[in-house]
Amino acid sequence: MPALDLALRAALDARQPLLGELHAQGTDCYRLFHGSQEGAPGLTLDRYGPQLLVQSFHQPLQREALLGLHSAINERLGLDLHLVYNDRAGGNSRVDRRDAVYQATPEALDDMLGQEWGLNYRVRGRHPGQDPLLFLDLRNARGWIKANSAGQSVLNLFAYTCGVGLCAAAGGAREVVNLDFAEGNLAVGRENGALNPSLPAMQFIQSDYFPAIRQLADLPVASRRGQKLPAYPRLAPRQFDLVFLDPPAWARSAFGTVDLLRDYQSLLKPAILATAEGGTLVCCNNLAKVELADWRDQVLRCAAKLGRPLRDCQVLPPAADFPSHDAKPPLKTLILRL
Ligand SMILES: C[S@@+](CC[C@H](N)C(=O)[O-])C[C@H]1O[C@@H](n2cnc3c(N)ncnc32)[C@H](O)[C@@H]1O
Repeated sequence: MPALDLALRAALDARQPLLGELHAQGTDCYRLFHGSQEGAPGLTLDRYGPQLLVQSFHQPLQREALLGLHSAINERLGLDLHLVYNDRAGGNSRVDRRDAVYQATPEALDDMLGQEWGLNYRVRGRHPGQDPLLFLDLRNARGWIKANSAGQSVLNLFAYTCGVGLCAAAGGAREVVNLDFAEGNLAVGRENGALNPSLPAMQFIQSDYFPAIRQLADLPVASRRGQKLPAYPRLAPRQFDLVFLDPPAWARSAFGTVDLLRDYQSLLKPAILATAEGGTLVCCNNLAKVELADWRDQVLRCAAKLGRPLRDCQVLPPAADFPSHDAKPPLKTLILRL
């Protein structure tokens, strides 16, 4: 049997107990194969409800290999999942895109529904962005939010498709505010809200992070080297009971640079100030080359410097569908009690 089939078989065996737990808790979106740790770097296989999403990042998968993975998963799960294969290896790709296996059937590219923690999410195999509409490694953090947001005012920063906000609403938050600068991502967030009609309505702010969080934190909105700033929504200073900060690894805008390697501080400082005394800030760093211990020290130092020393700091690892043999998962999450 080819090495890839054996590696998939081992990955599915290892997930057997987890899949039972996930199905019981109302989750049908999870990673089935995490290639970097399970024998095929640059390859991931994810279930999103009725869909199997295969992604390759280094080199394209050959047709037979792809079909073999699809049928092995269908057989193991007892399902007939719609296959979508997205090769993200860019210029390396030599796959013949006219082949139906690579193009995906029209049904596989239809809008679908996935579930996580009993909530509905929009699943779309291809859309204008590169990434799937739900980041699966954040599932435990979303679960934590759902279990810990009753009665709280919640601010979801870099909200993307608002999964964290949705979990806060489902967990009984008294107010949920999602903030992101991309209207397309917030539109999917609105759709996710509509797919869960029993939940209270969420709020959405379309804004760059820096002016928004600095206004909330009552800090001046600085321009870079005196340059004129683009327009931005005006917000009154205020604090939230629960703040969630999950920025991308790197992004530049007219207002500043998001850089998780060199400057977490300028993201974190205003987020701490926008968290109420006695409140909680959950923050993430998904850059693999940043060590948890170093990043945690930076976070603790930043809080102390602001005169907001932590009452508690807890690490929340991703679930077992994102195995990490060196115990150093790229996604690191800290729960900070302020
Ligand atoms: C990695 S995703 C965040 C994932 C998200 N926290 C979740 O729960 O799935 C990055 C998001 O940050 C947004 N973004 C990037 N730079 C931004 C900025 N300067 N201001 C506001 N949003 C930004 C992007 O539009 C994208 O939705």
